[in-house]
Amino acid sequence: MKILAINGSERARGSTWLAVQEILSHARSRGCAAEEIHLAEHRVTACDCGRCNSRPDPCPVDDEVGEIVAAMVEADAVFLAAPVHGFGLSSLMQTFIERAGVGFLRFERPLTNTIGAAVVIGRRYGHLDVHAQLLHNLLLNRFIVVGSGFPVTVYSGGEQGIASDVEGLDALHRTVDRVIDVGLTLAGAGIELPRPRDAERRVGRTN
Ligand SMILES: Cc1cc2nc3c(=O)[nH]c(=O)nc-3n(C[C@H](O)[C@H](O)[C@H](O)COP(=O)(O)O)c2cc1C
Repeated sequence: MKILAINGSERARGSTWLAVQEILSHARSRGCAAEEIHLAEHRVTACDCGRCNSRPDPCPVDDEVGEIVAAMVEADAVFLAAPVHGFGLSSLMQTFIERAGVGFLRFERPLTNTIGAAVVIGRRYGHLDVHAQLLHNLLLNRFIVVGSGFPVTVYSGGEQGIASDVEGLDALHRTVDRVIDVGLTLAGAGIELPRPRDAERRVGRTN
């Protein structure tokens, strides 16, 4: 099983990176292939064409979001990991979600039936709002969203950073386990989830 974790922090080696390392090492300890993408190390450019949400073709903006989306399509499961900034999603992850969404995903929803989960890192405030936002995006893209009970919200403000948040890391490990359990159960039953591609329906809307 191939797992991909995407780090949406502007600080490529900060607390979100540490949480991503937890995802990867736990997944590898279960025998999975695990890869990471740190958005801060890629060109993720906000589109300024002004009509990306309605144009019938991908926006020709020159960045690396297409490659990142291709890596997501290749994965069996994707973790979106992002820090809380200003009570909301980090600007980088927000830009990526918007750019990937209108630039690549809305045409055929190619991530349909990929397993998905959200991980949020922050000092103390706004984690659940950001977690909900990530879940909404996973749902929009027709992921199979997997959780372990408590949402994975990790507090980075303790003396030892995220290592101080034992409960948050427990939720993270349990969610990685659940993602793997669901993936392996489907594979063990010989079920290869279909990846139907169909255009977004916009009933009654012109934009
Ligand atoms: C611009 C900015 C805004 C932030 N806003 C919040 C916030 O609203 N709530 C919160 O709990 N933490 C907030 N933080 C703290 C970060 O979420 C926290 O430091 C997190 O660990 C950062 O992850 P990183 O190390 O991967 O960048 C903010 C940090 C920055 C830089």
